Amino acid sequence: MKNLIKKIAVMTSGGDAPGMNAAIRSVLRTALAHDLEVWSVHGGFEGLIDGNFSEMDSFSVSNIIQRGGTIIKTSRSERFKTQEGRKAAYYQLTKSGIDGLVIIGGNGSFAGAHAFCSEFPIPVIGVPKTIDNDVYGCDYTIGFDTACNTALEAIDKIRDTADAHNRLFFVEVMGRDAGHIALQCGLAAGAEAILIPEDKNSISDLTACLEKGWKRNKSSLIVVVAEGAVKGGVMALAAELEDRFKHYEIRTAVLGHIQRGGNPSCFDRTLASLLGNEAVKEMMQGKTGFVVGVSNNRLMYTPFLKAATGRKKINKRFVNIIKELSS
Ligand code: F6P
Repeated sequence: MKNLIKKIAVMTSGGDAPGMNAAIRSVLRTALAHDLEVWSVHGGFEGLIDGNFSEMDSFSVSNIIQRGGTIIKTSRSERFKTQEGRKAAYYQLTKSGIDGLVIIGGNGSFAGAHAFCSEFPIPVIGVPKTIDNDVYGCDYTIGFDTACNTALEAIDKIRDTADAHNRLFFVEVMGRDAGHIALQCGLAAGAEAILIPEDKNSISDLTACLEKGWKRNKSSLIVVVAEGAVKGGVMALAAELEDRFKHYEIRTAVLGHIQRGGNPSCFDRTLASLLGNEAVKEMMQGKTGFVVGVSNNRLMYTPFLKAATGRKKINKRFVNIIKELSS
C-alpha cells in the first residue's frame, strides 16, 4: 500500500511522566525505518500554536530511552482550549507540510486532540502517558509503573522510621482526580489503609481501621492518601484526627513531584516503545482520531473523546485486599 503520510510531527503534552522520552524515540525510529520525515514540536500545544518545530534525525533520540522528563518539553496549554489557538496550530502544521501528528499525552491533551481532529483534516494519534493512570481504554499509562516504584521506595523508608517511633504516618501521593497510585502503592507497601477519591467510604473506614490497629498494638501505621482524596491534603487530615489518636504521634509526608521524575522502569520503557511504534504504523495506514493502548495484553484503539472523558475504574479487589491484609 502506498504511504500517503510523508512527514509527521511528535509532541509531548500535559504533566511529564517517566517513559515519555522512550515513546518519542520509538515514534521517531519507527517513522525513519519507514522513510518518513519526523519533526518535533517543542513545548506541547503551546509550541504547536507558535510553530516551534524542528527536524529530528536518528541521533536526536540517542541515549534518551533511560531518561525521565521529555527532551522536547511539555506544557499545559490554555490557548489550545480555544478554537483560535487550534486554528493557529493547524496553520503551523500545514505551513510546514506536516501530514500527521502523534501526541504523547493524558486526558486533557486528548480532549484537545478530539476538538482538533473534529475541526481540521489532519491525522492525529495519541499515546497515553500520565503517572495518574487515569486514561480510559488502556490498563496502564506510560509513567504509572515508575511513579509507583518511586513512591513505594519512599513509603518503605517511611515505614522504618514510623516503626522506630511507633508513629502514625499519612503519606500523600499524587493523583488529583484518581487514586491508582495510592491503591497500588498502598497494597504493595502493606499500608494499613488508603484514601482515594473513587472510594467515598474510605474516610469513615479509616478511623475504624486505625482503632483496630491500636488495639492490636501495631507499632506503626501507614495510610497512603491520594492527593485528591481529602480537602486540604494530609496536613488537614492529621489535624482533624490528632485528638482521636493521641496514643500515636502523627506525622505527614507529601511525596510530590519526585514521583514524576527519574529513570523509567523496564515496564514503562517497553510500553512506550510498543505504543510509539504502533501509533506510527496506524498513522501510515491512514488511521486517525484515537489513542493506542494495551488492555488485557491486546492493543486497543480508543477514540479521543472516550479516552479523555471515560472514567477508568479502580480495582475494587485491591481495595478489599488492603482491608483484609491490614486487619
Ligand atoms: O497529572 C499528573 C499530576 O502529577 C497529578 O497527579 C498532579 O495533581 C498534577 O499532575 C500536578 O500538576 P503540576 O505539575 O502542573 O502542578
